[in-house]
Amino acid sequence: MSHEFDPLGRASKFSGPGRGWSEVGDGLARVASAVDVTRQRAPLPTGAPADVLASVADSLGPERIPERGVGETAALTHLAQLIADHGLDLTDARCAAHLQPPPLTVAVVADALASATNASLDTYDSGPATLAIEKWTINALARLAGFTETAGGVFGPGGSYSNLLALLVARDHTAARFGLDIRHDGLRGLPRPVVLCSRIAHFSVHRACAALGLGEAAAIPVPVDAAHQMIPEALETLLTALGVSHTPVAVVATAGTTDFGSIDPLPAIADIAERHGVWLHVDAAYGFGSLFSDRLAHLLDGIDRADSITLDLHKVGWQPAAASVLLLADQRRFTTLNRSVAYLNPDDDIDAGYDGLLGQTLQTTRRPDVLKVAATVLAYGRTGLGEMLDTCHDLARYAEQRIDAEPQLELVAPVTLTTVVFRYRCEELDVDQVNAQIRRRLIGGGIALIGRTEVRVNGEGQPRTCLKLTLLNPESTEHDIATLFDELLRVALEVESEAMDSEIDEMVIARD
Ligand SMILES: Cc1ncc(COP(=O)(O)O)c(C=O)c1O
Repeated sequence: MSHEFDPLGRASKFSGPGRGWSEVGDGLARVASAVDVTRQRAPLPTGAPADVLASVADSLGPERIPERGVGETAALTHLAQLIADHGLDLTDARCAAHLQPPPLTVAVVADALASATNASLDTYDSGPATLAIEKWTINALARLAGFTETAGGVFGPGGSYSNLLALLVARDHTAARFGLDIRHDGLRGLPRPVVLCSRIAHFSVHRACAALGLGEAAAIPVPVDAAHQMIPEALETLLTALGVSHTPVAVVATAGTTDFGSIDPLPAIADIAERHGVWLHVDAAYGFGSLFSDRLAHLLDGIDRADSITLDLHKVGWQPAAASVLLLADQRRFTTLNRSVAYLNPDDDIDAGYDGLLGQTLQTTRRPDVLKVAATVLAYGRTGLGEMLDTCHDLARYAEQRIDAEPQLELVAPVTLTTVVFRYRCEELDVDQVNAQIRRRLIGGGIALIGRTEVRVNGEGQPRTCLKLTLLNPESTEHDIATLFDELLRVALEVESEAMDSEIDEMVIARD
């Protein structure tokens, strides 16, 4: 083989099992030693977003594929340097905005192995080992959820996708009970299909309704209580009121709302869904990881009564995205996704054992995201992951205490899992704008990366802008959190006094 394209002198420039992996490792090591990581530590680069994005784009040069390449090392080093200078550092303790954890090194290495094998999960001959690893891992997760051996599941590219797949299966299963075949005939014949979910369910549920031809208006919002949990009596009333003019396709309970980590009362909701004969989907994208923790697992009591569960290990699970799973209590419900494709899974091949997982998802080629999850659970076990979650939960509780002790801060929602929602108080100024400005200033100044959201404070009035910490770094300390609040308060005073000096005119209200 010619080495013309391979100045490193390898036998092949492609990545294969065994020796090929060490070249992947060497490549990373080479890049790591070439990259200059002297940027001052910060969760995000400093500066205005337009400037940061322009720096990266400028560095890449004209937007066309170059005629001749610069070689592997130069290309990789260039990109790695861009990430180091202008990217995100999730390991920074001041990084606390989203459900986006620092990824475990073991998972990153396993993800590189997944890329290196380039196996696919659709057929046996696209990658047998990873097929068996996915089945093993799905079964292990299903057992953790309390499902029986009838359960099945599939990995997918995110919680939004898993929710979509769950509602697709629920829709087709529900229609089949009326003798309808939606897959073949479309939605006609199914009276007004609807999905009931809490008012604060993740927006991917609404998107799924749109994508599935139900329309976003089909997502009926169920009120929540002061603890941001679905009110079961309200669900009961809404379901009863539907009568025969509508078809409830699913009730979606959330186990870990994005902002508050609140968990809908699963046993009561399961009772209602069962009484009305409606599919129960639990969106546990955020909360599922509680099952790793001895301390928090009880919060998910009743999850074993779901028909389907979304869980995201790229949230509580410390995986690089994506590591989402849809579990079904009864694997046979995947039937609606069955496909027999001549070039992939003809019947005689299936009979001979050459089957894959094509029939459990909408994807065809599907990368083995499972590998990183399997590596992580084998490396750390349930308790190892549970301890990481407990630490993050402790940090959130610490943040809550700090907010309570600080007269300028107002706790908006108590901690359930690892998020804390709060506001900076101020008078004479538009408090929503002040809070939004505090966050932008923290980000733009490279000081901290925190989240924001809108909440009807005390369940009343218009939604107000709030600040949010999503704590998913078990290596952060209470000292780090304390420093983050010190910085936040310093920046808040700055924003406030500048606004009072009318430098930010529109923030000042009613000064007469
Ligand atoms: C409760 C919940 N469900 C679903 C999702 C969507 O997950 P993904 O971003 O992986 O699509 C999120 C994302 O934050 C979430 O918090």
